[in-house]
Amino acid sequence: MKITEALFAEHLVFHSMFDHIETTAPNLKTLAEVKSLAALMESLLKAHSDTEDELFIGPLEHCFEQLGQRDAFLEEHQEIDESLNNVQEAKDFKKARQLLLSAVAYSRKHFDKEERIVFPLAERVLNNKTLTTLGHKWMEQRARSGSGGSGG
Ligand SMILES: [Fe+2]
Ligand SMILES: [Fe+2]
Repeated sequence: MKITEALFAEHLVFHSMFDHIETTAPNLKTLAEVKSLAALMESLLKAHSDTEDELFIGPLEHCFEQLGQRDAFLEEHQEIDESLNNVQEAKDFKKARQLLLSAVAYSRKHFDKEERIVFPLAERVLNNKTLTTLGHKWMEQRARSGSGGSGG
């Protein structure tokens, strides 16, 4: 499997999760519920963003630089992570829910940008062999994290 196909498949799961959070958010009743959703989203997203940072940014670095996008790409991952951390810091239920929903909205934009710009760019500039090799690395990473490794 090519890395772009693997990442895209993960995106589909995240889109369902974002839909789920947005539909359930109005029915949430406690700060703890909001925080646990944010924590779940944060830990799932982390593995995905780490893969993109580690496997994707390197081989595509020269292209991002030409587009002036390299820092933006990394910064957006950090910003998503920070916005979810802010949910954990929140003391007020409504504030926390609002922070969670804006993190979801921001993530959607980021995912959309990757699907429209970054993945097609990778398919253009990296050859099939490279894309497949990176896909294998992705699979190894997921196998490790699924077999009760160090986690976090
Ligand atoms: Fe990303
Ligand atoms: Fe992504």
